Amino acid sequence: MTGQPANANLKGAFFLDEMVFHPSPEFRKNANVQDARIYLDAEENWLEYWNKEAEKLHWFQKWNFTLRWEQPFAKWFVGGKLNASYNCIDRHLHEGRKNKAAIIFEGEPGDSRVLTYQDLYREVTKFANVLKDLGVKKGDRVSMYMPMIPELPIAMLACARIGAVHSVVFGGFAAGSLRDRINDAGSKVVITVDGGYRRGKVLPMKKNVDEALKENDTVEKVIVVKRTGTEVDMVEGRDLWYHDLMKDALIGCPAEAMNADDMLFILYTSGTTGKPKGIVHGTGGYMVGVSSTHRMVFDIKEDDIYWCTADIGWITGHSYVVYGPLANGATTVIFEGAPDYPARDRFWEIIEKYAVTILYTAPTAIRAFMKWGDHWPAGRDLSSLRLLGSVGEPINPEAWLWYYNNIGKKRCPVVDTWWQTETGHIMVSSLPGISAAKPGSATMPLPGIEVDVVDPAGNPVPAGQSGLLVIKRPWPGMLLTVYNDPQRYVDQYWSEFENMYFTGDRAVKDKDGYFWMLGRVDDVINVSGHRIGTMEVESALVDHPAVAEAAVIGKTHEIKGQAISAFVTLRDNYVGSDELVQELKKHVAAKIGALARPDDIFFTAELPKTRSGKIMRRLLRDIADGKALGDTSTLANPETIAELKESYTD
Ligand code: WTA
Repeated sequence: MTGQPANANLKGAFFLDEMVFHPSPEFRKNANVQDARIYLDAEENWLEYWNKEAEKLHWFQKWNFTLRWEQPFAKWFVGGKLNASYNCIDRHLHEGRKNKAAIIFEGEPGDSRVLTYQDLYREVTKFANVLKDLGVKKGDRVSMYMPMIPELPIAMLACARIGAVHSVVFGGFAAGSLRDRINDAGSKVVITVDGGYRRGKVLPMKKNVDEALKENDTVEKVIVVKRTGTEVDMVEGRDLWYHDLMKDALIGCPAEAMNADDMLFILYTSGTTGKPKGIVHGTGGYMVGVSSTHRMVFDIKEDDIYWCTADIGWITGHSYVVYGPLANGATTVIFEGAPDYPARDRFWEIIEKYAVTILYTAPTAIRAFMKWGDHWPAGRDLSSLRLLGSVGEPINPEAWLWYYNNIGKKRCPVVDTWWQTETGHIMVSSLPGISAAKPGSATMPLPGIEVDVVDPAGNPVPAGQSGLLVIKRPWPGMLLTVYNDPQRYVDQYWSEFENMYFTGDRAVKDKDGYFWMLGRVDDVINVSGHRIGTMEVESALVDHPAVAEAAVIGKTHEIKGQAISAFVTLRDNYVGSDELVQELKKHVAAKIGALARPDDIFFTAELPKTRSGKIMRRLLRDIADGKALGDTSTLANPETIAELKESYTD
């Protein structure tokens, strides 16, 4: 664990400590959770609390034990049997939601599609039969590399229905990243599209799959959804069109009774090594956690139009675009495009078009909206909104207030939700009908959840002091393990402290018990709410023939929260130039994906290291942030680094 979070929120946060926002009496009166005793009740008997939440799902067979805890491996709802797809679909057909919109889809070009729960049932069961016919069995892995179109949740739910494990790979990853994730999962089938829309252009997604599969020996079939009409090469015997397969598929497919701890999905996330971690989530605990938190935090009601803008390729999309809302029989909006295409009011246009009531988005988007100007949201009717959410990184108080004033028009509570791919669901957040919000604070742990801030020895730090964020007891949606690497699970999360899960985040708890999240303390950068491992980017850089050594850090960025800065030493015969900077940026984007493209690349004769050979990242961060060197647009000069080193001790 090294360094300080590159994050500028601390000052603003404390400045606003005394600024408190209470929910309106009307919101409070109608809220799903109105009584603060829920916290005490859950504290008194937290297992019983989760039992009650679990009873709200449909189980084929009830569990015998709520939790079997053999640290660090938890088994939730032992003996229980259920199916995630049944809970997201079939249950609602019998509960009066057959004709209710399950998914409202808004395509980038402006096309739109509504799937009722009955439609979803038909599409999912048909596709489940397609997968079965292709030989996909319980426990088999299926990778998906798709844009935000209804076929993605359909494919996920079809896997869940037959007990296959899905692994969704974010569509912005390049072929190499996709290959690593398909290979690690050992997938039998890949589902993709001919092309994906991106700001009016077409991304060649099928082509990336073809490239990725050049070094693969597990994939038997590739299923291609036609989205853009782009021409693609179909490999004889391997590649199949989705629409051909669906034409004759039968409607109706029994939902497999899964054990509560059977795998539901794998989702890869960046860690502190170059190799991404396959975070494994189970069925019972995960479904209880996401449905319960979605109901409470978003105060979901029968006639809400709920929109979470996250891509399904990330955990927020899994839990709060797909599984949480559908388990609660809600209407979930899926948007394929970008917030500024064709114009910078696309989000507000969608809210107006569908009368969205709940909006869940990321601070990076909010900061971009602020910069684009108040007139964009002001020109649209946002009066349908009643609740706003934020996720992915600390929200600076200025952005919080802008969101509250300009989007929520001072009517809508804002819930700032802290959680991780690993936690599966929201852990720290206000409950909008109860809590008073402080802009910039994620407020408090949800009922039944125990989170704390400790020093490196594991002792709680006094109020107002920063420390490391830990989770002190198991929670239902916790990751089961790291796929194929249980030792990494133990080392990564359970070895820093005895009896506590280490989040990798730093935080402060104030005198009122409110949590202020301060960013990562490990070598993970949070760019626009997306986690990127410094090691991944460093490996991509040293893969270029010009690069001898590379160190990558996160630099504070006005919109993205953090941006990537790279410090590079060159091999003999290479000299640093603007052309080489451009080439290296392109190289990283081609290796990992555009999201990992460094903002700055500095050439230096040496990387500043401690005597034991550890890179002095704090020094590099200060250089990149312009704290140590005046003008960061120039290349870092080696003498300056040598001089600066003197004043750093890590
Ligand atoms: C950060 C995204 C402050 C944090 C759901 C965490 C946040 C990492 C917040 C997980 C928040 C997420 N306030 N920081 N409300 N939400 N983070 O796995 O550093 O993509 O560890 O999960 O994002 O990112 P991940």
